[in-house]
Amino acid sequence: MKERLKELQLEALERVEKASTLSDLQDIRVAYLGKKGPITEVLRGMGKLSQEERPIIGELANKVREGIANELDVKKAKLEAKELDKKLEQETIDITLPGRPVQVGGPHLLTSIVQEIEDLFIGMGFEIREGPEVETDYYNFEALNLPKGHPARDMQDSFYITEDLLLRTHTSPVQARTMGEYKGSQPVKMICPGKVYRRDTDDATHSHQFTQVEGLYVDKDVRMSDLKGVLNSFAKQLFGEDREIRLRPSFFPFTEPSVEMDISCKVCNGKGCSVCKRTGWIEILGGGMVHPRVLELAGYDPKVYNGFAFGMGPERIAMLKYGVDDIRHFYANDVRFLKQYHKAE
Ligand code: DAH
Repeated sequence: MKERLKELQLEALERVEKASTLSDLQDIRVAYLGKKGPITEVLRGMGKLSQEERPIIGELANKVREGIANELDVKKAKLEAKELDKKLEQETIDITLPGRPVQVGGPHLLTSIVQEIEDLFIGMGFEIREGPEVETDYYNFEALNLPKGHPARDMQDSFYITEDLLLRTHTSPVQARTMGEYKGSQPVKMICPGKVYRRDTDDATHSHQFTQVEGLYVDKDVRMSDLKGVLNSFAKQLFGEDREIRLRPSFFPFTEPSVEMDISCKVCNGKGCSVCKRTGWIEILGGGMVHPRVLELAGYDPKVYNGFAFGMGPERIAMLKYGVDDIRHFYANDVRFLKQYHKAE
């Protein structure tokens, strides 16, 4: 029996030595140390041995068993380390390879142009205000000298929510709201950028939702020349020093007198071309001196205070500045379009 055990040990150790994978080791473990293995068998046959032999063989069998198990463990650790080395070698990263380019985003053209307009007016002492997009009929129309039934309400087809609530058709209600907050006792100098809504059919120059920037300056002794000076400075900073402006008489219910401002066409330098419809001028915005009724409704005494106001469309301004030919480009979110206007930071 001793011989048999020694033989088994040698045989097992030889196989462990030769094993090259973890699964080989597992096979060896099962074959020699398993319940049906030869060592268990030897131990089972111990009943036939004499009293003296039994402990000797028992001890030897356990030693053989431990010896094989030890060797299996040592080899297992070796194979595992080898496997890990192999894996690490396969996974080495070549740090000299160029990386994948990261797509860097940037502000939307509309966002940039509104920011540019804001910066210009902040530079002239205006503050930035906001107002609600869901507006009351009162602020959107009535407070702006557009009582119910006024024909000029038709100029702006509206999305009504209830009889009294609508999506604002312009940013002008923020004039009335701001004056209301200032309670008729302080000068107001603000601009308000924001979204507005009209029941228009979308095409290259119309959108049911677009952006406006409203401006309002109310103080004692504000003159038309102040309006002209501010707008002239704004237009030249935005479009270039070489551009001229002109004011044409117009009509808005909330200003008296009312004007529209044109800038000289850059494409033809004022000579007349298809962009400016042969006039040499391009319309940019509407404005005028705040109507006394609008001041009064907002709590300002028109005998003490007066002011000017204006409203412009940033989409139109961006289209003119950058030669964008369709307003729908602003809303389609085609990155090929948007990318062209990402400024390098
Ligand atoms: N609210 C006008 C519009 O949407 C634009 C406008 C014109 C605003 C004259 C003004 C203004 O403040 O004085 O067409």
